[in-house]
Amino acid sequence: MRSRLYVKYVPRCFMYNDDKDAAVIPAITENDMLLSRIIGHRGNASLAPENTLASIRMAHEVGTQWVEIDVVLLGDGNLVIHHDQSLQRCTNGKGRLLRSCLEDIRKLDAGSWFSSSFSGESIPTLEEALALIQTLELGLNLEIKMHRHTVKSLVNPVLATLRQHWKDKDQLILSSFNHEVLRQCNKKAPEYRLGHLFETLPRNWLSQAKGINAATIHLNGKRLKPTQVQHVKSKGYELYCYTVNDKKTAEKLWSWGVDGIFTDRPQDFVE
Ligand code: G3P
Ligand code: MG
Repeated sequence: MRSRLYVKYVPRCFMYNDDKDAAVIPAITENDMLLSRIIGHRGNASLAPENTLASIRMAHEVGTQWVEIDVVLLGDGNLVIHHDQSLQRCTNGKGRLLRSCLEDIRKLDAGSWFSSSFSGESIPTLEEALALIQTLELGLNLEIKMHRHTVKSLVNPVLATLRQHWKDKDQLILSSFNHEVLRQCNKKAPEYRLGHLFETLPRNWLSQAKGINAATIHLNGKRLKPTQVQHVKSKGYELYCYTVNDKKTAEKLWSWGVDGIFTDRPQDFVE
């Protein structure tokens, strides 16, 4: 399954380096990477309704090795795969997920907003998504979305579900924009790799990364500078950028030394 992935746009062999005296750090090869060059964002968000089982299947179908999906907590303590705080954009329902229970969520159509051919697709539970991703032999970046609830009420069930339903910890990265979520993950489940998400690289990124024993740094590709890439890489972290949907931007980021990209269009990068 994994060997059929071929990255069309091979990154350059060496990192961008604007300091002539500094050592040039060779880029790591695909096999050594913690994730992969191409990660299907919300599954395959361009060919199927994002964060659904159909979207995960679609990512696999086009040859993606890893997918990123977002996990959120419902009002009744259940965990589902969804990006927004509200149901409006990606379902035929409305209101906040935090005020919903699984029974109500399951009645919603999470596919028709995208295309009538996906009508009847539902919001998956975390458990269902984990089962499918492992059946398809994909790697998973599970992004933990913190909305208005306590960190404990979110992190504890996420870790419990992973411990029960996810087998290969090397095929898993947990990430979040929320530092406290990551701190709790590191404390309670140091066996899982963590990626720190930032919109832009803050001044104290390194102490934040060290504080959670991060393996990877995930940044917005639009706001990144080559010197920041060099800085992050020089400290030994793999760097992944979201959300990159065009080849030109991907090529530029790879030439700077970025390890991989989250994309809604994995079909453009793998075959
Ligand atoms: O995890 C990368 C990316 O998904 C972060 O942003 O808003 O698309 O979840 P968002
Ligand atoms: Mg996400």
